[in-house]
Amino acid sequence: MKLKFILLALLISTVSIAQKSIDEKVSDLLSKMTLKEKIGQMNQYNGFWNVTGPVPEGGDSKVKYDHLANGWVGSMLNVRGVKEVKAVQKIAVENSRLGIPLIIGFDLIHGYKTVFPIPLAESASWDLEAIQLSAELSAKEAAAAGINWTFAPMIDITRDARWGRVMEGAGEDPYLGSLIAAARVRGFQGEDLASPFTIAATAKHFAAYGFAEAGKDYNTVDIGLNTLHNIVLPPFKAAVDAGIKTFMNSFNDLNGIPATADTFLQRELLKGEWNFDGFVVSDWGSIREMIDHGYAKDNNHAGELALLGGSDMDMESSIYIYELEKLIEENKISVAHIDDAVSRILKVKFELGLFEDPYLYCNEEQEKEITGSKEMMDAALEVAKKSIVLLKNENEILPLKKNGVKIGLIGPLAADKNSPLGNWRIGADNNTAISVLEGLKNYKGNDISHAQGVKLINKTPDGFHEEVQINTTDKTGFDEAIALAKKVEVVIMVLGEHGFQSGEGRSRSKLDLPGFQQELLEEVAAVNPNIVLVLMNGRPLILNWAAENIPAIVEAWQLGTQSGNAIAQVLYGDYNPSGKLPMSFPRSVGQLPLYYNHKSTGRPGTEGVDPGSVFWSHYGDEKNSPLYPFGYGLSYSKFEYSKLQLNKTEMTKNSSIKASFTIKNTGKVKGKEIVQLYIQDPFASATRPVKELKGFKAIELEPGATQEVSFTLTESDLKFYSANQKWEAEPGTYHVFIGTDSTSKEKMTFELN
Ligand code: GLC
Repeated sequence: MKLKFILLALLISTVSIAQKSIDEKVSDLLSKMTLKEKIGQMNQYNGFWNVTGPVPEGGDSKVKYDHLANGWVGSMLNVRGVKEVKAVQKIAVENSRLGIPLIIGFDLIHGYKTVFPIPLAESASWDLEAIQLSAELSAKEAAAAGINWTFAPMIDITRDARWGRVMEGAGEDPYLGSLIAAARVRGFQGEDLASPFTIAATAKHFAAYGFAEAGKDYNTVDIGLNTLHNIVLPPFKAAVDAGIKTFMNSFNDLNGIPATADTFLQRELLKGEWNFDGFVVSDWGSIREMIDHGYAKDNNHAGELALLGGSDMDMESSIYIYELEKLIEENKISVAHIDDAVSRILKVKFELGLFEDPYLYCNEEQEKEITGSKEMMDAALEVAKKSIVLLKNENEILPLKKNGVKIGLIGPLAADKNSPLGNWRIGADNNTAISVLEGLKNYKGNDISHAQGVKLINKTPDGFHEEVQINTTDKTGFDEAIALAKKVEVVIMVLGEHGFQSGEGRSRSKLDLPGFQQELLEEVAAVNPNIVLVLMNGRPLILNWAAENIPAIVEAWQLGTQSGNAIAQVLYGDYNPSGKLPMSFPRSVGQLPLYYNHKSTGRPGTEGVDPGSVFWSHYGDEKNSPLYPFGYGLSYSKFEYSKLQLNKTEMTKNSSIKASFTIKNTGKVKGKEIVQLYIQDPFASATRPVKELKGFKAIELEPGATQEVSFTLTESDLKFYSANQKWEAEPGTYHVFIGTDSTSKEKMTFELN
């Protein structure tokens, strides 16, 4: 017994020495720094040769170079490749007085050189291991290129497909979004942040950016505490609980306060109640943008508000570096505010191992060996296949036969190698995706012919951001496409959005297939109804006509480098699709915001059952329901649910309840079904959603096989942010639904006492 105590005491003192050594190192270094050097750590510049946002006035390479050499820069972003990272790190470490290394940030949103599916697509896999692996390998490839900090995961819940950044997140549900956030943090940061293969992650954008009014990017956000705490914040709390090292604030104002200066969000909640010990970086220029918000009078005032509001590092406003000394002199901020911010930044740099070796991430041999390796490509293919959602498969037109079939491949995205890389592929080289045409040609048994039908139009106004539209003026390709459709047995049409038609700054007021694509689809269908529609898009689209008239529809999002191989393997049945929608697909834009976990309202009417009056919550010209609901996705197998039951009808607060059911694969092929469990709390101190996802599992079954599956619900699954403004589970009745998607009807009921 005594030995145990000695060992325990030794362990505690060892850990505390190790931990204390980082804290001690930080305070030692802080005590040596001048005020200007401290402020320098809070200053982040973009790479000299690249921009992912508006270039600030007066920001130029010479100024940046001098500031680097003086130790007035704490971080840089968009510096890519060992050579370039080494170059800027050398200036900071070898020219400045204290040689404090830079932390190198990058938008590693879904891969670096090897591009993985866009996050919305990965979320459709509901496969947390696959999502974690994607982040882990992306980090490995980026770290080999000198990057040690990613501005990801983006964990903004959103319900509005007009918003271009839906492609970057995990869709509409806070439960799924929280699990995915934690998985991506674990993937990026790994077990050891000082490893040369792991990087610091960023929870962004804090907060409520996905609730931009009217789905218009950067627009104002006005939501109540109920939505803020029950929908927006849970994924951010999950990221903190997963040990995330940094946060990024959001461009929007939230209920009148720009997030960049929101003391409640960043100090009271994040650094206070949640005890977050990392640092907060502003989004690009968001400190200066408080002037445009009409919240700051000028740069000096913006700097004061941002620092007091809890923003520790200034991305590309150049305000902290020029204004904070003045604010100290005017006693508007204190050195304590600066010391707190700088300590947080230095702590992450120590944890990354940058002080031990500033060139830890700068190994050119390793960069060559890891970039684009087989390990990367294989993983990118696996994750891509799991992200595909089968929306329709009438008369089992899919999977296609592998031999002797004449196939016409038509559409502007069918042979495109760029669009599948999605919007946030800034580390990758253009046109490096496997196209659908290339993927299909890897199968030698069929006769594949291709016609574009509608052209893409590439405009590159600023030289970096490609603005690609899909043709709205030229139908000259129609004849060739229709002629091809007439002479083949099956037509595969690849339609949707170009990768640059979603993402930041790409909100849309319409959600139809852009350009002449819908006309092309209808004219091809008129001559050959055997169409497999493959969609490539970064957001839910309006697909009413296709849903009515096209026998097979495959949601293939933007799947990254291995896109064409993943799609071909699904179309030929070498991978049985298992994806489920992480976001509702609307019937019309007028339904937005549209989401499954909506409130009942006081007049909830039932669709299709006319309550005999107009006085219920509905549209006179559109259904309430989505075209395809949250959690929906088909398989080449068929699954039957039976024997849903609870092991008891009453539960006390510190106990649990088991929901079980039997699932059978009544199809002809082995398949995977993501079974889902939802609850409803029909009566509470605040109005509650009609359904909330609280569990899911992937069940793989051979044809004809059955399996009993169970979920365990505990009190914590029933908690919500109540009218008492605290997280609690309230006693009363609860309903439980289990099934294939969020429309599952069969319910079971229990009482929480
Ligand atoms: C952009 C985005 C943010 C990104 C940052 C750096 O404007 O809003 O998500 O991390 O700037 O590129």
